[in-house]
Amino acid sequence: MCGIVGYIGSKDCSEVLVSALRKLEYRGYDSAGIAVFEDGKISVKKAQGRLDDLEKKMEYEGRPLGHAGIGHTRWATHGVPSETNSHPHRGGEKVTLVHNGIIENYKELKEMLIESGREFVSETDTEVAAQLLDSNYDGDPVKAIAKTLSQVEGSFALGILFSDRAGEIYAVRRESPLIVGVAEGESFIASDVPAIIKYTKNYYLLEHDEIAKLTEEGVTFCDLQGNPIEKELKVADWNEDAAEKGGYDHFMIKEIHEQPTAVKTTITPRIVEGMPNLEECNITIDALKDINQIYIVACGTAMHAGMVGKYVIEKLAKVPVIVDIASEFRYREPLIHKGDLVIIISQSGETADSLAAMRLAKSMGAQTLGIVNAKGSSIAREADMLIYTHAGPEIAVASTKAYMVQIAVMYLLSFELAFAKGFITDGECCRLTDTLQGIPALIEDTIDKTNDLCHDIAEKLTEAESLLYIGRGLDYALSMEGSLKLKEISYIHSEAYAAGELKHGTISLITEGMPVIAVATQNSLYDKTVSNIKEVRARGAMVVLVCDEKAKVGADVADYIIRVPQTDEVLMPMTAAVPLQLLAYYTSVLRGNDVDKPRNLAKSVTVE
Ligand code: F6R
Repeated sequence: MCGIVGYIGSKDCSEVLVSALRKLEYRGYDSAGIAVFEDGKISVKKAQGRLDDLEKKMEYEGRPLGHAGIGHTRWATHGVPSETNSHPHRGGEKVTLVHNGIIENYKELKEMLIESGREFVSETDTEVAAQLLDSNYDGDPVKAIAKTLSQVEGSFALGILFSDRAGEIYAVRRESPLIVGVAEGESFIASDVPAIIKYTKNYYLLEHDEIAKLTEEGVTFCDLQGNPIEKELKVADWNEDAAEKGGYDHFMIKEIHEQPTAVKTTITPRIVEGMPNLEECNITIDALKDINQIYIVACGTAMHAGMVGKYVIEKLAKVPVIVDIASEFRYREPLIHKGDLVIIISQSGETADSLAAMRLAKSMGAQTLGIVNAKGSSIAREADMLIYTHAGPEIAVASTKAYMVQIAVMYLLSFELAFAKGFITDGECCRLTDTLQGIPALIEDTIDKTNDLCHDIAEKLTEAESLLYIGRGLDYALSMEGSLKLKEISYIHSEAYAAGELKHGTISLITEGMPVIAVATQNSLYDKTVSNIKEVRARGAMVVLVCDEKAKVGADVADYIIRVPQTDEVLMPMTAAVPLQLLAYYTSVLRGNDVDKPRNLAKSVTVE
């Protein structure tokens, strides 16, 4: 995710901008840049790579000396990581800006601007915003910003310099976050509080479509019509360490809260005119038509994302899918045929077994598709086709947001494959894609609605010796992930079971009070799962049921019911995953464990 900063005051602006950007490094980036008013003119410095690369460049070329400017770290979405695509972008003579978010209608706007004679140097949606604003500016910043916002669609935060206003910075946002920090004689903008906490704890939260004007004298706010707005000053009560966690106690819970943004950032660039479009990843409808067998190979949580993918692809696109644990796949002499598609899912892109499995599949003539979060990682570099997930860096060892974006990509792929194979119409494909686009809001809703209940239920789980997670179909796939999450951070043994399989042995484990987490979000399987729940409850199990908010649950079915927002049955894992993550998180916290760094585990497993 990109990071934005801005500074105006008496300090050396370049130094403040780079130091503030360092505090946003956790968001992940592949290039960086700053723009500073130097002797009344805007000087821009950018570099591909890390902030150290930008600093080296400035040592060599000279650092802009001034007291007002903006800075940016870029996590590429539109266009490759390169100096040209990095921010700040000039929109012509009048405007220079930095941007976080996505301008969804940038293609149409770009065509319109080209027709009016403008030329573009980068592949980014940001340059479109810069050029549009430049074309709208005739000396009145608020009017120009308002007009530009009436033309752009998407979610974005912008930090803006106008060439003829050397002592001013402007900022505006829609959906993407932006804060405005204030201190004596200086003010700041930033994507997140950690960037400014070294300089000030006082800040304002910029709301949708509010414009901030920063000068050395202070900050003023107005709406798009120019009407002044009074805002409440907030005071961050965090130290620098807490600030990096965004005020949360642990990275894991912060990352759970980042899921709506991560999903939105991952899917939005891959939806064109309502349909999934993976052409930028070298996946075309024609190529998908020829796929007759898919393998999904991965480890741990990533493999569980593959399990969700299997159910959805087979249900919608009718292509057989085999999900394999990478460490098994590479030694079991898999029957890969030329033209089979082998999908490797990996957050880190460096997991040794997944990488080796991919190389094996390639050597056997398969087409390989990497679904990877870490840019430039080995799997990303070596896969024939690549879909980056845009979760930003995941710091907690237990994966949450990376899983969520992996399944989001599985959905996009399944919808496109089902359409390519002729099993759904374009109308149905659009409907599913549209429902997927509504998921980020539902995830947010689920976190709000289930957080406290999950905390209370976790109190009942802390003393358990062992748990079972049960479900059918997609709920079983999700149960596997819920079970792994709990065991890896709470250190309580747990196992996921297909609900219908219990009576073939495992049900003998049920004793009085044993917790069973039952996931039953699939309407078509609901009654069957309830029968299995009754079987365990009759033997003394304490049942926690995760179901959709509209499910009619009989009085004797569960001890606790966690209801999640309803959506299309096929997409239910995206909301139902949230309480499973929260249950694991709070159980670990209540047991006093090191939640973000569980014992014996590493974030990236680069050994066999
Ligand atoms: C569990 C977890 C692991 C990883 C697995 C694969 O929370 O994070 O199970 O999913 O080690 O890692 P990647 O996705 O980096 O290949």
